[in-house]
Amino acid sequence: MLLSMTGIEKSFGGVPALRGAGIEIAPGEVHALIGQNGAGKSTLIKILTGVYRRDGGEISFAGHPSEVLSPREAQEAGIATIYQELNLVPLRSVTENVVMGYEPKAFGMLINWREAHRRTREILARFDIDIDVTAPLGSFSTAIQQLVAIARAVSLDAQMVIMDEPTSSLDAKEVEILFGVIRELKSQGVAVLYVSHFLDELFEICDRVTVMRDGQTITTRQLSETTKLDMIADMLGRNPDEVAAEGMTEFGGAAAKRGPVRLHAEGVATGPRLKRFDLTLHEGEIVGLGGLLGSGRTEAARALFGVDATQSGSIEIEGAPIRLEGPAEAISAGMGFLAEDRKAEGIIPDMSVRENLTLALLPKLASGGQIDFGREREIVERFIRTLGIKTADMDQPIRELSGGNQQKVLLARWLATEPEILILDEPTRGVDVGAKREIQAFVRDYVKKGFSVVLISSEFEEIVEGADRIIVMHEGRSVGELTNPGVTENMLVSALAQHGEGGAEWTRQ
Ligand SMILES: Nc1ncnc2c1ncn2[C@@H]1O[C@H](COP(=O)(O)OP(=O)(O)OP(=O)(O)O)[C@@H](O)[C@H]1O
Ligand SMILES: [Mg+2]
Repeated sequence: MLLSMTGIEKSFGGVPALRGAGIEIAPGEVHALIGQNGAGKSTLIKILTGVYRRDGGEISFAGHPSEVLSPREAQEAGIATIYQELNLVPLRSVTENVVMGYEPKAFGMLINWREAHRRTREILARFDIDIDVTAPLGSFSTAIQQLVAIARAVSLDAQMVIMDEPTSSLDAKEVEILFGVIRELKSQGVAVLYVSHFLDELFEICDRVTVMRDGQTITTRQLSETTKLDMIADMLGRNPDEVAAEGMTEFGGAAAKRGPVRLHAEGVATGPRLKRFDLTLHEGEIVGLGGLLGSGRTEAARALFGVDATQSGSIEIEGAPIRLEGPAEAISAGMGFLAEDRKAEGIIPDMSVRENLTLALLPKLASGGQIDFGREREIVERFIRTLGIKTADMDQPIRELSGGNQQKVLLARWLATEPEILILDEPTRGVDVGAKREIQAFVRDYVKKGFSVVLISSEFEEIVEGADRIIVMHEGRSVGELTNPGVTENMLVSALAQHGEGGAEWTRQ
């Protein structure tokens, strides 16, 4: 074995996060690590890479027992890691982010930028990325940033590469590119530890899977000898037949009773990435935006919410034309927007779960300068319960929650304000299969009360089953529409294919 971890214990403030967890990985093996949000996956990784100190247990890597390592020592020992929360510097250039710590020096002291840019372009080319490497990393999409983090990690001379949810913001095409790189690593004998909530994709790339539940490692199996249902049953600690009976999604039975038109957008353009966007949204309706990465879905959402100024076109709410000068105006016009990039636009790490959750709600909770704290706690408790947010208590700093649970808090922030028009960009990103169903059920109930939702998801299944209507987007334009019931993933794929090449190869399973 290349890596062997056994009996790993870890508590945070007396609360156990890992209870005798362990994993074994062979050289050249692609090994999946799965489990519900908060099961302990990221913590196990961070113990290995020296971010956290273990309370107990043994680790051996490449034949050597490993004492407590620092992240730097773990890297030098041959472990390259892409953490779930990308640790990149958005204001620095792409090159700086890729070569950070390994800058080629000229004359032994000055950084040779020309060489650094060249090397960065070369590394990114493996991922089919051709961008201006001198531009700040933050000016590119979350997906590009994620690929840059991965490119950086695999460019290091590693014996093992750890990827904590690498595909969460990637499109199907980019996932394929990543898989190509993983296969290449494997053929060079590099081991890959792969964390993901997309269980289908594991079959394509992984040899074995280890399932975690409540801080313990429950089982390790060959992928070829297991099914998705088995994996979910292990994750939940339930019987596969029971899980099968419930189905994989809570969406479905779409086509709610829709009311009058609530929002109408016509010919909206904000720049080269959104050239012409039309949308009619009714009361009690979920409209999905279907498209590939770069098709303008997020830009359309930003235009509706007043984040990007419209250059032409018009937006009407309840029949009255409206010109939104910014998000504050959108919020007072009854809108909410769960943004795709939770780190940049959402989470305030040092504030508590409660404060993060009620941030947008405070104006409503205050009367005469007094905040109604009783009411606040009541609302927070309700969301922690209904969305199953795993937190020690509501005053725990949000940065201490697992990735998926942070995402649930952000979603709750917007749901709590009950906006008439709620825009959800990738609402179930990073949440486990069980929590996904809970969120979908919540959104369904929400529109039943007459609210309206615009839904963006790179998972076709979620759009196809979740939306009453789907606006098909391509290269910054809305180019077609599909109406439920009856829309299938294949229909969406072929609608997209009519407007671009190679439709079928883009499907995300
Ligand atoms: N720094 C910390 N302080 C306190 N508690 C923590 C800290 N880091 C993790 N935890 C807790 O440890 C548990 C396991 O979290 P972890 O991040 O490992 O989950 P995960 O399996 O990666 O989940 P996800 O799928 O949501 O990413 C959670 O209950 C989390 O709140
Ligand atoms: Mg995690």
